[in-house]
Amino acid sequence: MLEKSLFGERLASGSGIEELMDDLGQALAGSHGPVRMLGGGNPAHIPEIQAVWRDRMTAILSDPPAFDRMLANYDPPVGNARFILALAEFLRRHFGWPVGPENIAITAGGQTAFFFLFNLLAGEFRNGARKSILLPLVPEYIGYMNQGLDPGLLRAVEPRMEFLPEHRFKYHVDFEKLAVKEDVAALCVSRPTNPSGNVLTNDEIRRLADLARSAGVPLIIDNAYGLPFPGIIFGEADPIWDENIILTLSLSKLGLPTTRTGIVVARPEIVRAVASMTAIVGLANCSIGQAIILPLLQTGEILRLARDVVRPFYLRKSRLALQWIRQFFDDRLDYHVHVSEGALFLWLWFRGMKISAETLYSRLKARNVLVVPGHYFGVGRTQDWRHGHECIRLSFAMDETSVREGIAILADEVAKAYL
Ligand SMILES: Cc1ncc(COP(=O)(O)O)c(C=O)c1O
Repeated sequence: MLEKSLFGERLASGSGIEELMDDLGQALAGSHGPVRMLGGGNPAHIPEIQAVWRDRMTAILSDPPAFDRMLANYDPPVGNARFILALAEFLRRHFGWPVGPENIAITAGGQTAFFFLFNLLAGEFRNGARKSILLPLVPEYIGYMNQGLDPGLLRAVEPRMEFLPEHRFKYHVDFEKLAVKEDVAALCVSRPTNPSGNVLTNDEIRRLADLARSAGVPLIIDNAYGLPFPGIIFGEADPIWDENIILTLSLSKLGLPTTRTGIVVARPEIVRAVASMTAIVGLANCSIGQAIILPLLQTGEILRLARDVVRPFYLRKSRLALQWIRQFFDDRLDYHVHVSEGALFLWLWFRGMKISAETLYSRLKARNVLVVPGHYFGVGRTQDWRHGHECIRLSFAMDETSVREGIAILADEVAKAYL
């Protein structure tokens, strides 16, 4: 039996995100037969986007020095200098943000960026004080859970709920409950939110930014699905950055998850700290995603792809999934679907169902449908979370047959769960 350090106990004893990624990997490897994979966060293979990646690879292969540089040179820990320069110019040109290369660091995916940022800003301090990261709205991204080396690193505030017609609802930040006290090191939100597909309004984001600034702490905005890329936001929302905001971006949901490319846009001292952590933990990052994307940033083509290809693709998928829910679910049940404003997921709430979301998950798994039970997204909560046990997250990114069949089976199991 392996005797684990405290660090080992925290990081090597399993987690929701590990189970989720395992489920995803095994389902995609086809080891359980035909599985309707509505569980993980794998992006869709969008034909037009896949063609862009193939064209870029062909162009890189036909330029031997570029190919050799991409595969055979370590980048500095902060990231590839040409990529960072091109991204800074892109952000200045298109959004007018006052950023230079000193404001950008690359990480091994957004996931690693959060591990670094959370533990950099919060935890135990030299004077014995402890600070935490405050999530202004749960449910939040499952991958944040277990990332803190300090057990109490994440804390969360329950949202306000708005009930809407046709079995819809929406979360709002409850500003009355949101107090940024001295033991808060930073605020953090994903926008769009994983799992709910909520997009915090411009007004909510501005209020959060103001709150953070007046408390002297940064606001972290996790833009894994948002603007300017991959752009999976269905309504109107403005991208926002200033010196007090730490914006994280990722190439994953654009369609390059295996290149493990995360991007941190922040003030220089934070960027330098992230680069120092990369050096210690991993020396350097993978260069391939940066090499693929570089000219798309220089020409601005990445914006067109996000706006004209990625966004409409997921918008259509979201509308189809909602239509199938309407079609298959018994209208008399007390179920609620969060408004689908972005990202790849529907978040369903089965109020008053007789079984837990975990039991529902197991019953669905037995019928070859994978979803994620909602309690995993109660990040930063200490008490048991009844609401989370009544919710599930369902991805609509996979092929239409899987999503349609998965929703039909879900409707059947949910109807039994109310008996
Ligand atoms: C909200 C959110 N943040 C961050 C990540 C991390 O993604 P990656 O490490 O692939 O950039 C994900 C992945 O699903 C996510 O959903």
